[in-house]
Amino acid sequence: MFDFTGRTALVTGGASGIGHAIASALSEHGADLILLDRDGDGLKTVASEISQKTNREVQQFSVDVTLRGDLEKVHENLGEAQPDILVNAAGFNCRKPISELTEAEFISVLNVHVLACFNTTQLFTVGMARRGKGAILNIASIAAYRTLLPRVSPYVAGKAAIKQFTRATALEFVDKGIRANSVSPGFIDTPLTQQHSDEVRKSLTDTVPMGRFGEPYEIANAALFLLSDYASYITGADLVCDGGFLSK
Ligand code: NAI
Repeated sequence: MFDFTGRTALVTGGASGIGHAIASALSEHGADLILLDRDGDGLKTVASEISQKTNREVQQFSVDVTLRGDLEKVHENLGEAQPDILVNAAGFNCRKPISELTEAEFISVLNVHVLACFNTTQLFTVGMARRGKGAILNIASIAAYRTLLPRVSPYVAGKAAIKQFTRATALEFVDKGIRANSVSPGFIDTPLTQQHSDEVRKSLTDTVPMGRFGEPYEIANAALFLLSDYASYITGADLVCDGGFLSK
């Protein structure tokens, strides 16, 4: 159904979880990849696994997406071979009450979720605009709609900001042929949520109408659709993939 042959996708957070699943799915459907992650070892493993499986090109850059300089180096290194697709999936959480969070901790969470989207969008839309076509997908969260757990203030603030930043991106680049959408996953089984105790995971599962966590490939399926030409009239949208959580 989906064919990304001839397109190159840059995926941040590509070494793990949702970013890994989206990168694999894009590659399986013909895309060449540029993977960015601060986990250099994880990146090597994932890049070799994907390229062996799909025979597509997979470039990897071990970078911190919160650092503008790191992203500029990637941009320069790619030269004329800039991506057609941008996926912002890097992220993490810092769970502390507001009374204990330092300013640096608060900003570090906002930076990975919001500043990185701004910097990647500014840099990698240049090539897309030149070609008159591009697609961006930012990973938001059901945390953009609800405060799910205690002690997640920078995370929920960052995720709400991603959703609105995506809409602003959609409007600003609509005349360049670039679409920008976000996906808001519910509870997905990745290293990020595997950090929770069994007790917390059970209590979260109980809140999901489908009665289970989602799998990373289920977010990748949504990503394939939004990044493909089947979504040619969709921009500025947020697709919630949460097993029914927000419908309650
Ligand atoms: P994960 O922990 O499996 O993967 C996140 C990746 O981002 C890791 O490989 C990590 O090294 C990378 N990363 C973090 N900070 C970075 C930085 N500064 N520079 C470069 N790479 C960095 O987590 P998961 O679950 O795959 O999360 C992916 C995205 O999905 C995140 O934005 C997360 O907030 C979002 N999300 C996850 C949900 C879940 O239930 N797992 C639910 C909703 C949203």
